[in-house]
Amino acid sequence: MKRKLEEPSETETRISFVDSGGHLSYRGVSIHDMAKHSTYEETICLLLYGKLPTRTQLLEMRNKLSAHRRLPAGVVALIGSLPHFAVPMDVLRTAISAMAMFDPNEKDNRIETLLERGIGQIAQATTTVTTHNHLRNSRLPIEPDPEMGHAENFLYMLRGREPEAWETKALDVCLVLHADHGLNASTFAARVTASARADMYAALTTAVGTLKGTIHGGANQKVMEMLLQIKEERMVDRYIDEAFREGRKIPGFGHRIYKVEDPRVAYLRSVSKDACDRTGHAYLFDLSRKVEDTVCSEKGLFPNMDFYSATIYYALGFPVDTLTTVFACSRMAGWVAHIIEQFELDSLIRPMGDYVGLLNQPYVALEDR
Ligand code: COA
Repeated sequence: MKRKLEEPSETETRISFVDSGGHLSYRGVSIHDMAKHSTYEETICLLLYGKLPTRTQLLEMRNKLSAHRRLPAGVVALIGSLPHFAVPMDVLRTAISAMAMFDPNEKDNRIETLLERGIGQIAQATTTVTTHNHLRNSRLPIEPDPEMGHAENFLYMLRGREPEAWETKALDVCLVLHADHGLNASTFAARVTASARADMYAALTTAVGTLKGTIHGGANQKVMEMLLQIKEERMVDRYIDEAFREGRKIPGFGHRIYKVEDPRVAYLRSVSKDACDRTGHAYLFDLSRKVEDTVCSEKGLFPNMDFYSATIYYALGFPVDTLTTVFACSRMAGWVAHIIEQFELDSLIRPMGDYVGLLNQPYVALEDR
């Protein structure tokens, strides 16, 4: 597929649109249509190439992803050498950073190379997450299955059994919905790194490091920890009241941009209900609803996308400390698209700090201080 990009300015982007009124679109296509009709593979094509793919282009993307899934042996060895208590987001960040050293063309920033490299990184992120999870549990990693689609293979590599159709669909919808979101913190961080003409691995490493933050992507793990701590519906009021009294934020609520409900939440809420019902975790969904009702009625805050995705990933079998890596695996598509857009723009992002400190201070000699 040929890409077409006219010159955007430093803060302009043509990749996704988001506004306070709850609108989100990828390359102009509404998130509602994407959630209802699309797949993650199609979403990658849309974000990277600017257009929905033809049947042939979609098949090409599927084939490329499956061809790139294996990790370099050195990266597997590196993951295996990390302490067993290593944090999965740190492992993903480290693996992506190391990946640069296994790419003989690391410095080649031509668009065609970047696209190929980016697709490779999207594929390999899932293998990194599952490989680490097996190795830390003293198990052999499960080899990717080239016949499977992206979401199906991700679950297969995690659990070693072919997922049921509903499981693949549930994960796929999440991957579609998390794939991009304007100039959020991790995407912006990635663009800053790319704007300095660093390489794609450096920019993705920056992005993963930023997403780990607990008020950014790290919130989904915090949501799950909170639900597991609350345990029962009757404990919700006490937990929330205490958190408010102590000035603690409730993970999975509030948003910097949206002043209405996040448009992705309705889909995630319904997928969460289905996934929890099917896996014997119905109580977790009921608990989530109770938390949502309480936080909404007491503070007028809406859940964000991390709130219901947490229980979906948990119900699908992702360990609690890997939840943010699942978000990262999806957001890889958006990051790659933004990094390439920034490379094409080739303009350093260097904001002027709003200096509010002292001026004209005398230099006092050491012995006189
Ligand atoms: N729990 C409790 N109160 C919250 C809240 C939450 N999750 N999110 C926002 N608020 C409150 C703030 O305390 C503040 O109240 P105040 O005006 O009485 O001081 C008000 O709402 C505005 O919050 P603010 O922190 O200024 O909003 P923001 O736009 O800077 O922050 C987030 C947005 C996402 C950082 C914030 O909502 C948050 O930390 N949420 C929890 C973490 C999370 O889910 N992150 C994922 C985001 S997609």
